[in-house]
Amino acid sequence: MIKTYIFDKINLYDEICRKEESELKKGTINIPEEEIKMQYDYMHKISILNQEFYHKNGRMPTARVRNFGCQMNEHDAEKLSGMLLEMGYSLVQSDEDKASAADLIIFNTCCVRENAEEKVFGHLGALKAAKRENPDMIIAVCGCMTEQSHVVDEIRRKYKNVDLVFGTQNQHTFPELLLDCMENKKHVYNTEHLDGRVAEGVPVKRADSIKAWVTIMYGCNNFCSYCIVPYVRGRERSRSSSDILQEIKTLEAQGYKEITLLGQNVNSYGLDKEDELNFAGLLDLICRETSIPRIRFMTSHPKDLSDELIDVMASNPQICRQLHLPVQSGSTRLLGKMNRKYSAEKYMEIIDKVRSKIPDIAFSTDIIVGFPGETDEDFEQTLDLVKKVRYDMAFTFIYSKRKGTPAAEWENQVPSEVVKERFERLLALQNGIDREINETYMGKKVEVLVDGYSRTNAERFTGRTQGNKIVNFVGDRHCIGEIVTVEIDEVQTWSLGGKLI
Ligand code: 5AD
Ligand code: SF4
Repeated sequence: MIKTYIFDKINLYDEICRKEESELKKGTINIPEEEIKMQYDYMHKISILNQEFYHKNGRMPTARVRNFGCQMNEHDAEKLSGMLLEMGYSLVQSDEDKASAADLIIFNTCCVRENAEEKVFGHLGALKAAKRENPDMIIAVCGCMTEQSHVVDEIRRKYKNVDLVFGTQNQHTFPELLLDCMENKKHVYNTEHLDGRVAEGVPVKRADSIKAWVTIMYGCNNFCSYCIVPYVRGRERSRSSSDILQEIKTLEAQGYKEITLLGQNVNSYGLDKEDELNFAGLLDLICRETSIPRIRFMTSHPKDLSDELIDVMASNPQICRQLHLPVQSGSTRLLGKMNRKYSAEKYMEIIDKVRSKIPDIAFSTDIIVGFPGETDEDFEQTLDLVKKVRYDMAFTFIYSKRKGTPAAEWENQVPSEVVKERFERLLALQNGIDREINETYMGKKVEVLVDGYSRTNAERFTGRTQGNKIVNFVGDRHCIGEIVTVEIDEVQTWSLGGKLI
């Protein structure tokens, strides 16, 4: 069944987060091939218009995709780039908010925290002059921000320089919407919320030739009380395991050495489809059917991390010894208010269980500081948990009020000076742990998948260990894209240095 949700009209949090998972099963299906083929027809039509542009201007029109936010967005940007190339645009990298930057600029936005939104509005404001100078320039905004009706209203009212607005859930219709915009010289705002369907066969221009993102599911059903994602990305929709496997086999044939499986909560992969594998089964299938040397995945919700998954990780050396397991807070009281559905004790049990089966695992996490009602005691419990787990990496965030989420309505917001002070303490603690963990690598030999030249020193190369540690070393260009052994002889807080063995 296909259902359309409009989150402003119904209170999804109340409606959905109290339901059992089984009630949410809806039988996700692929968008019919004919609908995708139609988008290829629109891409073809745009490529003809772009040929006309070429004859007039002596060059193909340029396009710039400006991306904000998470890995899921990075991969969405690769799909936008794939469609743009198919339409004949030449892709450029300019970051300037000027008329000369590109003929078409797309902002692929994020709304997880307020500052990500402010940045985009800043760029749109700065582009007003550019649009006056070059009225033919097309400005498009898509991604998570535009799935909120108040943002679309603001764009309509204040940013008339924006020609096209579309969402995350109808991204595959970008060619159709762009053609409408080009042919009819009008503003197009379309953020259709369609659930229960996934798009296959959209062109992709990958940014990297060694590591690739593979989305395995879209959306989120968890409704953590601070988080906007379930409202803007819609309900969980899994791709079929056969489509995922096919994509990974293609990547393997193209020489990719690492894939990262993406989803807001990969651990609930397959639950929205009849007769589909679960996440552990999917990982096992990928390991059996392909020889990709490195497989990562993110993000895992602790409430759904199964013993079966731990066993699959333990028994498959292709799966990197790394697990991103966001804890958000070390206070069981706050975790309840966050609607995370686990206690701090339960979280520690999971960590211990994973470590007992995979001793060399590197954990990373997300932590929010200043969630409404966070007391000194709650925060101390977060520090205690961080000391106990000793994460290899922690992504720390200051709580940001997100309109439409339950926590934004709560009155006990923490004063910003208190939040800042706590944030600094957490950062200092984690930096110390980072350094101490890195020091244990001194003199050790590690396997590094080489990404390329180091950004800070052109004579050195850089890559990552299985545990995702950055390693810089002296090597030669033939090692790019290879897994090499490096002996560590230099330790810093966020990276290691060494020599090739
Ligand atoms: N404020 C701060 N951080 C947030 N995150 C999600 N929503 C918010 C918010 N409103 C963080 C969580 C999540 C990560 C991707 O972003 O830690 O795991
Ligand atoms: Fe947001 Fe992640 Fe919670 Fe989903 S599981 S609501 S994406 S924090």
